[in-house]
Amino acid sequence: MFFKKKKPSGDIILPEHIAIIMDGNGRWAKKRSLPRTAGHAAGSRTFKTIARYCNKIGIKYLTVYAFSTENWKRPKSEVDNIMNILRDYLKDTDNFKDENIKLEFIGDRAPLADDIKELMLKAEADSADATGLHLNIALNYGGRDEIVHAVKSIVKEGIDPEDITEQTISDRLYTAGQPDPDFIIRPSGEYRLSNYMIWQAAYAEYWFSDILWPDFSPRDLDRAIEDFSRRNRRFGGV
Ligand code: FPP
Repeated sequence: MFFKKKKPSGDIILPEHIAIIMDGNGRWAKKRSLPRTAGHAAGSRTFKTIARYCNKIGIKYLTVYAFSTENWKRPKSEVDNIMNILRDYLKDTDNFKDENIKLEFIGDRAPLADDIKELMLKAEADSADATGLHLNIALNYGGRDEIVHAVKSIVKEGIDPEDITEQTISDRLYTAGQPDPDFIIRPSGEYRLSNYMIWQAAYAEYWFSDILWPDFSPRDLDRAIEDFSRRNRRFGGV
C-alpha cells in the first residue's frame, strides 16, 4: 500500500489514486463572454491533457467527475453538449487505447442513452488489457447513490448483518477492487466534496485552488503533488 512506503528524503511521493472534481467550466466561459458549451469543450481538452500527463508520470489511478446524478437538472442543451463531448472522446480511441490507458466508468448507467452505453462498454473492452493509467470516468455518479446501490446488493445477496464489515461495502461500490483515492483535487474556489466518492474519501488528502478547470495545467498538478508529498500521513497513528 502506498501509505506504508517510507518517504525517501527529498523525493516526491506520488499519490496512488487521484480524484478530480473538474469544476469551473461555466465560469471560465462566462469570463470570456462565451457560451457554457465552450467551457465544457475547454474542460474536456484539459481532461485529456491531465489524463495523459498522469499516465506519463506514473499515476496508477485517476478518477474524474464528468457528470453527477444532480447534473440532469441543467438545461437539456447543456446535458446534450456534455454527452456529445463524451461520445467524441469515446469514438477517438487514440485518447485511451493507443495511450495504454485502461478506461472504466463509475456511476449508474441505466438512464444514459443506448449508444453511449454501447460506446462505454466498447471502450472498456478495448482498453481492458492496458497496463498504464487506470482512468475512471464518473458519469451519472453520486456518492450517496453508490452507497444505496451497495446496500441493495448486500440485502439482495442475503448477507447476515453480523457478517457485514467495511470491506463488504467497499466490495460493492463501483470502485470495488481499486485502492481508495489518497488525493482529491478540486479547482475553481469551491471547498466541498459535492457527493463525490464520499465513502472512498475517508482518508484522502485534499487540495483546493482558485484555478478554473479549463486553466488547470500539468504544472498545477505538479504543484499539487508536491504539496501531497510534503504532507505527513499518519492514519490516526503516531
Ligand atoms: C463542472 O463545471 C463541470 C461539469 C459538470 C462537466 C464536466 C465535464 C467535462 C469537463 C467534459 C468531460 C469529458 C470527458 C470526455 C470525460 P460547471 O459547469 O459546474 O462550472 P461552473 O461551476 O463554473 O458553472
